[in-house]
Amino acid sequence: MTPMRSVRALEASPGIARARRRVPENPISDLFFGMTTAASSPTREQPYVLGTGNDESFRLGLQHRLWSNAAFDLWLRAGVQPGMRVLDLGCGPGHASLDMAQIVGAEGRVVGVDESAAFLKQLGQESEARKLHNIDRVLGDAQKLDHCLPSPATDDYFDIAYTRWVFCFVASPSEVVKGLRRVLRPGGKLLIQDYFNYEHSITLAPRREAFSRAIAAVGQSWRARGGNPDIMGELPRMLRRNGFTIEHLDVRQRIARPGTSMWQWPWTFFNSFLPKLVESGFLAKSDCDAALKEMADAITDDGAYMLLPPVFEIIAVKE
Ligand SMILES: C[S@@+](CC[C@H](N)C(=O)[O-])C[C@H]1O[C@@H](n2cnc3c(N)ncnc32)[C@H](O)[C@@H]1O
Repeated sequence: MTPMRSVRALEASPGIARARRRVPENPISDLFFGMTTAASSPTREQPYVLGTGNDESFRLGLQHRLWSNAAFDLWLRAGVQPGMRVLDLGCGPGHASLDMAQIVGAEGRVVGVDESAAFLKQLGQESEARKLHNIDRVLGDAQKLDHCLPSPATDDYFDIAYTRWVFCFVASPSEVVKGLRRVLRPGGKLLIQDYFNYEHSITLAPRREAFSRAIAAVGQSWRARGGNPDIMGELPRMLRRNGFTIEHLDVRQRIARPGTSMWQWPWTFFNSFLPKLVESGFLAKSDCDAALKEMADAITDDGAYMLLPPVFEIIAVKE
């Protein structure tokens, strides 16, 4: 595995004078990337429910492209700009990290944290291919930022923390919030895009029974691993209680019609994930087959469409 860069490498960047002044000489890099082997990895026992294989990686790339306009709008609204230090928490293969690295430029820095070494490796390969040298990768659990972004070196460190579709998969969201509060500078902004009312929103129109059962199974599988597809219902209050002001709260609700590019989002998700739910016992094989057939049938039904899960967005400012 390509060695991942440490935040010490980040500090060596010529444009980060402010960081060099503030971060102690005491090296923290061992903590950052002593994590290149499974034995020393601080990651969770319950891995990411959607998997880290090639199919999920491909799906995340497509998903990013379909939702990149929402991400760019949020970054623009929050004032992400050249020279900033950005944390991409739960970055996956880093599609958003790569975009933000171009926005913050050579004087800025993006640190991608994820619990998947496979995804981080892909981010490393892609940043090399694009000749982006301002991205650091950190393997670790978002719920234990003290391990992977240790204090005091990263206290008040980031201007922006971005986290998309990660809170819905963690068992201890308040630990994530506390960690993010520590690493953001006062006035720094936390940008979140995630779900609320997921299971009750996704609907094939006209309604289909097996598909509805499949959605319920998706929610159950996330919850069984500690996740919460309703997390954006709780986050604003959790953020207020942890010293953040909510500057912006909104939702993007979309539909997908067969034959449009947006249709690829649910199509790739359900075709890849429902068979996994059968393997893990959350969904009967007959319901999986029936739900996928209902989606396939919708393609030849002129009037069919799908109501997609609402993606909520928050900009919260560290007080
Ligand atoms: C749906 S993907 C989203 C990836 C990326 N944020 C994006 O928007 O494309 C969820 C990501 O969160 C990561 N993840 C889930 N739980 C995590 C945790 N506790 N610590 C670190 N990463 C986690 C997974 O490995 C995966 O890469």
